[in-house]
Parts: sequence; C-alpha cells; structure tokens
Amino acid sequence: MIITIDGPSGTGKSTVAKKVAEKLGFTYFDTGAMFRAIAYGVIANQIDYKNQELLIHFLQSAELTLKNQHGKTHFYLNGSDVTGHLRTAPVTLLSSKISTIKEVRDKLSQLQRDLVKGDISAVFEGRDMGTVIFPKAEVKIFLTAAPLVRAKRRYDELVAKDPSMAQSMTLEKTLQAIQERDERDENREIAPLKAASDAYLIDTSSLSIDEVVEQIITLIKS
Ligand code: DC
Repeated sequence: MIITIDGPSGTGKSTVAKKVAEKLGFTYFDTGAMFRAIAYGVIANQIDYKNQELLIHFLQSAELTLKNQHGKTHFYLNGSDVTGHLRTAPVTLLSSKISTIKEVRDKLSQLQRDLVKGDISAVFEGRDMGTVIFPKAEVKIFLTAAPLVRAKRRYDELVAKDPSMAQSMTLEKTLQAIQERDERDENREIAPLKAASDAYLIDTSSLSIDEVVEQIITLIKS
C-alpha cells in the first residue's frame, strides 16, 4: 500500500508523514531530501547548475543511495554520508532551483519508483508523489497552511535549532523565502506542486501535528 503526502514547506509534512508511517509500521521516504542531496553534491563539487553539460555529467556520475541506520534513513552520495548537510540555507535554495530541471527530476523519479519493490507498504512525502510518481497510490493527502503560519513555524524552528543563524533572519525574510520557493515549486513546467484531483486536502493552519496525524490515520482506515 502506498500513501502519498504532498504539500508546500511548513505544513508539517515531514513530521506528519514520519508519524503516520511509524503508527502504521510503514516505511517512510522523504523525497525532498533526495533533491537536497543532489543540490549538496552540486555545491560541494562547485558545479554551475546552469551549465547543462556539466550538470548532466554530474548527474550521470552521481550515485544516490538510501540506507536505514538505527531506524533513520541516511543519504549517501557516491559513497559519502551527506545526511548532515541537507538542511542548510544554500542547499534549501538550490534544491528548489534544480528541481525545475528535467534531467534532475528524471533521475530522481526513477530512483523513487525503484524504491517500491514487491508489495511494500510506504509513505512517500514530497511535492509530486500523488500527481506524477504514484498516481495509483491508495491514499493521497495534500497538506496546506496559510503562508504566514508556515513562515512562523519555519522561523521558530530556526530559533530553536540554530539561534546564531536566526539572528540574521527575521519572520519577514522567512516569509519572503517561503513565498519565493512556493512560486517556483508551483509554477515550474515539470511536475509542479499541486494537489492530485483525488487527494484529501487538509489545512493544518490551526491543527496540531497529532490532530493531522489522527485525521490521516482515520482516512486510511476508512
Ligand atoms: O520538502 P523539501 O523542502 O525538503 O524539498 C526541497 C525541494 O525539493 C523543494 O523546494 C522542491 C523539491 N522537491 C520536488 O520538487 N519534488 C519532490 N517530490 C520533493 C521535493
């Protein structure tokens, strides 16, 4: 059984998807982290992502593998564990930019589909899981929330995790960055961020993580 959870950032998508998978005993896949791993590789190898030839060459040589270590997925790029490098601001920005490029999407789409072997039970979290990658998924969820609510969640997260970094950020700047990323994710030509016509929409603006998880579990059971 495949469950897809899509939506923009700051909707609680990752935490919710992880909890839903945990409760059901399903495998959880964070597909945004795959785009982030490729973006990290592009930065680490000092590749100009706008140079199509160089980017394609990099993609051909980039081997991305996922390994479960102590219950957590680790992302390996050409044999190196890059998991700890995926949440920086430059990687966040570049992952959104490169996700508009066909060759990047083709490579990761293939990898995502290859993760489904036999009758696996999994929760796939991303932007185009329900629309493009798994159009036949049994249950599709699309999470939304007001932009300001999402920005506040992201900003509070940053203050809690990295207070020194948060000093150079404001709620307004976070909101602007979120809106720019939404704009790019929603308006790209290939696999734009949107709800599948058969997805259940949940607005998480005034819901707690546990309330969203409960709604999804109820939907799946029904
Ligand atoms: O979910 P995230 O913030 O980790 O995703 C990082 C970027 O990757 C996001 O800006 C858009 C892109 N992405 C995508 O295009 N398709 C997916 N299935 C997942 C992420």
